[in-house]
Amino acid sequence: MSALTITPNGPLRGTIRVPGDKSITHRALLTSALAEGSATITGYCRGDDCLNTLRALQALGVAIEVETDTVRVWGKGLGGLTEPVLPLDCGNSGTGLRLLAGVLAGQPFFSILTGDDSLRRRPMGRIVNPLRMMGAAIQGRKGGELAPLAIQGGTLQGIEYRSPVPSAQIKSAVLFAGLFAQGETRFSEPAPSRDHTERMFRYLGIPLETDGCHVVLSGRPTYTAKDVSVPGDLSAAAFFIVGASLVPGSEVRIVNVGLNPARTGILDVLGEMGADIRIVNQREDAGEPVGDLVVRAAPLRGVTIEAADVPKMIDEFPIFCVAAALAEGRTVVTGAEELRVKETDRIHAMATEMTKLNVPIQETPDGFVLDGGAVVKGGTCTSHGDHRVAMALAIAALTGDAPTTILDTDCIATSFPNFHDNLLELLTISL
Ligand code: S3P
Repeated sequence: MSALTITPNGPLRGTIRVPGDKSITHRALLTSALAEGSATITGYCRGDDCLNTLRALQALGVAIEVETDTVRVWGKGLGGLTEPVLPLDCGNSGTGLRLLAGVLAGQPFFSILTGDDSLRRRPMGRIVNPLRMMGAAIQGRKGGELAPLAIQGGTLQGIEYRSPVPSAQIKSAVLFAGLFAQGETRFSEPAPSRDHTERMFRYLGIPLETDGCHVVLSGRPTYTAKDVSVPGDLSAAAFFIVGASLVPGSEVRIVNVGLNPARTGILDVLGEMGADIRIVNQREDAGEPVGDLVVRAAPLRGVTIEAADVPKMIDEFPIFCVAAALAEGRTVVTGAEELRVKETDRIHAMATEMTKLNVPIQETPDGFVLDGGAVVKGGTCTSHGDHRVAMALAIAALTGDAPTTILDTDCIATSFPNFHDNLLELLTISL
């Protein structure tokens, strides 16, 4: 179990690229595997989460050639996957497991999905219920609430499903199953979650209709594989956006970042807090908005976040918490109880670890209250095995009065294997 020691070392300066978007990489791999023909995916995320999805597809009989920056996938069509002989291990990835469950629900064979300790604690009833309604037979611990999940797929029927929580993973599990279903699959959710699946389906010519929180998909389309260029992951960029905002004298350019409006909540909120973030060179790639970000240090002020703001920045709360700690004034977050069922309970993890670094933060059932303007005291803290908590603490450490050691940082490789190298690169240019 490795550790990372961060020594505060002046401003962040320079130009970087961040790993390919994790959400889009999962979807590009899955849709290419189910397409007719082959496609090259460029700029894919090489974090363990996506590599586990890639290996699961190989175990389902899909030929995939892996290079450093590209993968080539030979699609098997909707009817071509074959029964895996071993359980499919999704590691730490909720997205991998839940989206694969949707695909496997439509297969006329038996399969088992599992993952690491964290993933085996996360709620699966939220996808098992709609997939059972569509006709899949799924067993799991606690009546299907927890992985491992054993799936006997088969003929599925389209359903109308109202999700009780806004979640792109639930939506996507249902939509991937909907590809194999007879008739229409209708999905709605209480607030719009990220729409990468819908954009990818549309890009590939799979007919679907969307309207705010509603999606309608017609089952059993045939479609041809198309090359995909994956933009950089805004959720990875967020660590450097906040780092550059907080450390005086910083100026960082992050090129080729995905700017899907269902993901840009962190940019809106940081803007409201006073951050100096410019978006340049805006364009579109494979149906997704993309641009470069230029961030300069600026004083931040506290902000209020409510339930409606949460889905658009769901993965950014650990790093947002660091921005709030250094901002002037109070920050209040409510309506964010979904954070309790992420890779770890992120409300509890951030409250515990920020307290160790001298930040006055109070955990509430659905968020936190934080009085900003703290002096971060260097010391020792731990990631709770969560990649985003680990990277957020590393950025907090940049502002500390002494070096900080973050324990249990192997998890960073699930999404951002080069995080520390990128950080050192930005710190070195300033020397
Ligand atoms: C993801 C959706 C989000 C997010 C996760 C990736 C996806 O989860 O937290 O990191 O790729 O669909 P929920 O939509 O379930 O909140």
